[in-house]
Amino acid sequence: MKKVLVTGGLGFIGSHTAVELLARGYQVIVADNLSNTRPEVLDGIEAITGKRPIWANVDLADPAACRAFLAGHPDLDGIIHFAASKAVGESVQKPLLYYHNNLGSLCNLLEHLAAHPKCAFIFSSSCTVYGQADELPIRENAPVKPAESPYGNTKQIGEEILRDGAKAHGFRAIALRYFNPIGAHPSAKIGELPLGVPQNLVPFITQSAAGLRGGLKVFGNDYPTADGTCVRDYIHVVDVALAHIYAMERMIEGKGTEPVEVFNLGTGKGSTVVEVIAAFERATGKKLQWEFAPRRPGDVIAAYADTQKAAQVLGWKAERTLDQSMADAWRWQQSLPTTAK
Ligand code: UD1
Repeated sequence: MKKVLVTGGLGFIGSHTAVELLARGYQVIVADNLSNTRPEVLDGIEAITGKRPIWANVDLADPAACRAFLAGHPDLDGIIHFAASKAVGESVQKPLLYYHNNLGSLCNLLEHLAAHPKCAFIFSSSCTVYGQADELPIRENAPVKPAESPYGNTKQIGEEILRDGAKAHGFRAIALRYFNPIGAHPSAKIGELPLGVPQNLVPFITQSAAGLRGGLKVFGNDYPTADGTCVRDYIHVVDVALAHIYAMERMIEGKGTEPVEVFNLGTGKGSTVVEVIAAFERATGKKLQWEFAPRRPGDVIAAYADTQKAAQVLGWKAERTLDQSMADAWRWQQSLPTTAK
């Protein structure tokens, strides 16, 4: 049985990936310090798979704690590293926290890899590294643009740390650049748990429809797009989770052709904010309250993935539709407490 450490395994994408690993017979160890989630996620994972992963409440940014934890697991076949802070606005207010947390934990885990170079490593990167790309759809060889926020910078620097570390220490890694993961497990037993007012579009939509928030503000209607609103590549979180299995298997089978391989995880289809609203209303039968508002600083006009590399090299492509994502996100929202946090 292959043994995989999932850091941030109680978070949104991590928990869905833990489920897919368990369903395929992997032994899963979760490291999560609950900084942005709750221990009940373990119950959800167990309810879906019938298996409860081992969970360690450990701060991976603490070198001694990380070292002590990994010393107990010298036989890992792979590490999937989701654990990171991800709020763009907060990262502008607290840059040192973001650099310390996101890059410290990465370095600490890579110390382990330097000593165990056969261990596979998968890093959560982001399409934010492309900024406003010059060409759409965005290919993996598009230039990395100066980061708009400390959060975005941690993803760019994280990829550089992987490359430098792989060169010096002989380990290998895959960086997956996520576009916009949304939705929830179709069972509605796990999903996204944003703390406070959601900054991301889909959790705001579902909380607004549930009456927990006011109407949605659509940020900007004068962008050079079909209806004036921004375009993003929204991808179902289960599709994102499955891509990690393909990447893990590629690494375990030693099929990588470069020390650090990079793949886009998107659907290849761009949707405007107005189209997302329409998909939500179609998929759920709920009417959404919304209005146009000024642009949000830092938003790019349009970003969607070229998916060919992931299809050809990993053999993976996204299969779930935007409407499915919306229906699953809504089912998950309805399973949550009905008071706003
Ligand atoms: C954002 C981050 C990105 C990060 C990702 C992680 C920014 C600028 N980008 O992506 O770096 O990797 O989250 O989850 O913060 N929108 C509204 N009203 C809302 C919320 C969003 O109109 O209340 C619009 C936005 O303007 C955007 C689209 O919905 O056009 C998607 O927004 P969001 O879900 O926040 O994702 P990104 O901005 O693409």
